[in-house]
Amino acid sequence: MSILKVIKERRSVRRYKADSIPDDVLQRVLDAARFSPSGKNLQPWKFILVQDESLKQRLAEASVRQIFVAEAPIVVVACGFPDRCYSQMGNYMKSWPVDVAIAVEHLMLQAQEEGLGTCWIGAFEEKDVKSILDVPEGVRVLALTPLGYPDENPVPRGRKSMEEIVSYDYY
Ligand SMILES: Cc1cc2nc3c(=O)[nH]c(=O)nc-3n(C[C@H](O)[C@H](O)[C@H](O)COP(=O)(O)O)c2cc1C
Repeated sequence: MSILKVIKERRSVRRYKADSIPDDVLQRVLDAARFSPSGKNLQPWKFILVQDESLKQRLAEASVRQIFVAEAPIVVVACGFPDRCYSQMGNYMKSWPVDVAIAVEHLMLQAQEEGLGTCWIGAFEEKDVKSILDVPEGVRVLALTPLGYPDENPVPRGRKSMEEIVSYDYY
């Protein structure tokens, strides 16, 4: 499939089948994250694949009770390393949130290519997620996503027009 088709057909999926994900498929999805670019190629990330039912339920609770999160066979928890990233991005910020976000998006696009659904979960209580999964101090949780076969076909959400988001030469 062309990359633009994959990008345009991806949706945030909020209903999942319980069907498990074949290992070769899962490995390709993870490989997409592994091959992401990152500041100074420091790859300041770790992805926790949560399959245990009770842990998934607790993560869903910690995600402002978005219960659908636990429906998928796997919940991916994307972590970043603030102490092991490029620290001068734009001469004002650390790169880890950007690095991890790119990797998550790579993972999501390969998931789409494989017929899997995802949903970026940004509404969560980080301290609860860290405590549930024993995430060490100094490691941050950037996002979660359920990963599984969709049990819905969400309608496309609109996007801003090209004119609204692009300018040429000057702002
Ligand atoms: C940073 C970020 C945080 C988000 N948090 C949530 C969330 O907590 N729960 C949820 O259901 N969707 C969440 N979303 C998904 C967005 O609602 C969704 O991407 C947007 O409405 C566009 O829809 P689409 O992904 O189907 O194209 C989040 C997306 C992003 C990028």
